[in-house]
Amino acid sequence: MNSRVSFPRALRPAMIVGVALAATAFSGCSVNNDGDDQIAGKQLFVAKCGSCHILGRADTKGVTGPNLDEAFRQSIKDGFGRDAIRGVVYRQILDPREGSAMPADLVDDEGARDIAAYVADVAARGGEDEGLLGSAVEKAGSDEPAVAENGVLTIPADPGGQLIFVNSKAEAPAGTLEINMPNESGVPHNIVIDGKGESPVVTEGDSKFTADFEPGEYTYYCAVPGHQEAGMVGTLTVK
Ligand code: HEC
Repeated sequence: MNSRVSFPRALRPAMIVGVALAATAFSGCSVNNDGDDQIAGKQLFVAKCGSCHILGRADTKGVTGPNLDEAFRQSIKDGFGRDAIRGVVYRQILDPREGSAMPADLVDDEGARDIAAYVADVAARGGEDEGLLGSAVEKAGSDEPAVAENGVLTIPADPGGQLIFVNSKAEAPAGTLEINMPNESGVPHNIVIDGKGESPVVTEGDSKFTADFEPGEYTYYCAVPGHQEAGMVGTLTVK
């Protein structure tokens, strides 16, 4: 989707009224007057930021960094406008303080603008995104169980960077089992079953361990701090 529409400069004053009306009529419209694309911003936020930050409207649950609804609630109450918040978020993305756990260069300048526009618009708002923004991010995870094949049980991490395994249920026959967690996202994850094994934390690639399983139910989870609590957990049934 190309959301950047450019109008001849001379036409702009005449358009302001029209744009304002259009913005009211299509409140689901994702492109603001500065050309920032909130749909792209939301998608990038979920993929690149959500593993470390809670933001209710984006349904992200990371706890490494501050909760962004909380972080901006007071400033919004104090009358600090959303434009100012947009500036804070934009600068934070491009230039996190030195030594911060927040990596620099997560996205390019355009991405930073889109993310900042989205975060500033939704922070501390409550409720749910609607329209195109509401469907901008596909629901992560599958209702299907992962099923072991030839002694290998594959339980991928969400490739989109959300804190969830693709399968929250898994099935395997008793015996020796290799548990493999492919992780295509840039977010670090591993897979652990207490008493059985713990795979290495990886950001991109497969992460595995092998153990012997008797019939029963086992809980698998990601041991990176905050990830299990956010939803990276599931149940393996061995028969
Ligand atoms: C690996 C974890 C991590 C990722 C990924 C991450 N952040 Fe952060 N973020 C942090 C931490 C930790 C802080 C706390 C302040 C610091 O260390 O500078 C922070 C601070 C912030 C702040 C300042 C909040 C305040 O209270 O002032 C904002 C805004 C922010 N991050 C937005 C983002 C956005 C947007 C992205 C995605 C482009 C992102 N973060 C990605 C960890 C992360």
